[in-house]
Amino acid sequence: MNLEVLFTPADFAALASRDLSGTACVVFDVLRATSTIATALHNGAKAIIPVAEISEALELKKSRPEVLLGGERNGVRISAGGIDFDLGNSPREYTPTKVRGKTVVSTTTNGTRALRACAGARIILAASFLNLGATAEFLRRNKIGNIIIVCAGTGENAALEDTLAAGALCEVVSGGFGGGANAASVEAARHAYAQAKSNLSGAMRDSENARRLLANPDLRDDVALCLQRDTCWLVARMEADGALRIATP
Ligand code: MLT
Repeated sequence: MNLEVLFTPADFAALASRDLSGTACVVFDVLRATSTIATALHNGAKAIIPVAEISEALELKKSRPEVLLGGERNGVRISAGGIDFDLGNSPREYTPTKVRGKTVVSTTTNGTRALRACAGARIILAASFLNLGATAEFLRRNKIGNIIIVCAGTGENAALEDTLAAGALCEVVSGGFGGGANAASVEAARHAYAQAKSNLSGAMRDSENARRLLANPDLRDDVALCLQRDTCWLVARMEADGALRIATP
């Protein structure tokens, strides 16, 4: 198995020039896009369609009025083109009552951009601490030989929480099957996770995203929620139509 971690948006932008036809890309945006995707699917959403721009979300709504619009800019729910989005990007909003049986079109600052940057990969998965175990199990069971872990980051920088989740996944899957090579980025992520894992919430003092959410009384509970491990036993896989759905094993 060949394993590599990309830490920043500049790294994932470069994916466009790589041949990913034999690669699985696993995207982490722990705070909060991929945690919200896992929660929405866990609570019965039919599909999540990630789009990079607000304008794309509004276009899709015109052609498919039944979809819900979700996402954030500057952390808060979007209002644009005279439309108030149905949902923000807090996993706590994606309750069974709101999302069961629904398709959600979502646009977020970094997470949905990272997912879209992986177009061309053989397999694209949205992962978080909430569904890390199931994601690792899927990679192992399907004996995926080439894995790139894509951290969505914050703005144009790396995000500590994504690096830690990448390290947690590396801890589980690296050396899991076959030979192969681990990039130095894997060791960096693993070391970061090993240092932080006994007190992940404490480590969030050094996370720009966590500090921003913790400063907002409406959003602060998202941080602890998104650090929970394996509360959603599901794999969120992007299918050929660009929608994320629960993968069959
Ligand atoms: C993102 O996509 O950048 C995030 O998930 C931001 C957020 O939810 O606040």
